[in-house]
Amino acid sequence: MKDRIALIYSTVDGQTLKISTLLQKELLNYGHYVELSSIEEFNTELTNFDKIIIGSSIRYGVHHKKIIEFINANKTTLDTLKTAFFSVNLVARKPEKQTATTNPYVVKFFKSITWRPTIVEVFAGKLDYKKYPFFDRIMIQFIMWMTKGPTNKNVEIEYTNWDKVKEFGKTLHKL
Ligand SMILES: Cc1cc2nc3c(=O)[nH]c(=O)nc-3n(C[C@H](O)[C@H](O)[C@H](O)COP(=O)(O)O)c2cc1C
Repeated sequence: MKDRIALIYSTVDGQTLKISTLLQKELLNYGHYVELSSIEEFNTELTNFDKIIIGSSIRYGVHHKKIIEFINANKTTLDTLKTAFFSVNLVARKPEKQTATTNPYVVKFFKSITWRPTIVEVFAGKLDYKKYPFFDRIMIQFIMWMTKGPTNKNVEIEYTNWDKVKEFGKTLHKL
């Protein structure tokens, strides 16, 4: 069946958008209609869609404020639709922290809101020190040092597992 899907994302450095773009491509390949939109731009009626997918990266331990506000404001409608949420963060580069039940940000997130999407997924993001303003770079270097990750300021590593993103696309198609 051809579904109407809204894919709403929040990104700062572009990795969540990159993941969302691949998901859109996969879902289009399965024959669905997909509206890809940032949380800032999105202003279509949610009830126009069969499935809603929401993605957000993590910054300093939390998902983006606008995403949280959107979810809380639309919870009643979201509950009537098939929904998915995915989180993008660097802690998820560790295999033992890349599922909905083992990623600390995702676990904490769902303790703070009442919405329960049909499925939840977690993707590792990108580390790119050169892109970060000085203060952020120092903070991320510190977090990386604490978690035994790379701290060299020239490092640029994309940890995202693209096969896992495609697999998620397949799961969303079947949802
Ligand atoms: C200022 C800043 C703070 C971040 N805080 C965290 C964090 O607390 N935990 C974590 O796992 N990743 C953290 N990250 C990593 C991002 O989640 C990761 O780089 C992700 O790919 C960003 O996605 P985006 O480009 O879609 O925003 C942080 C990155 C930046 C730049």
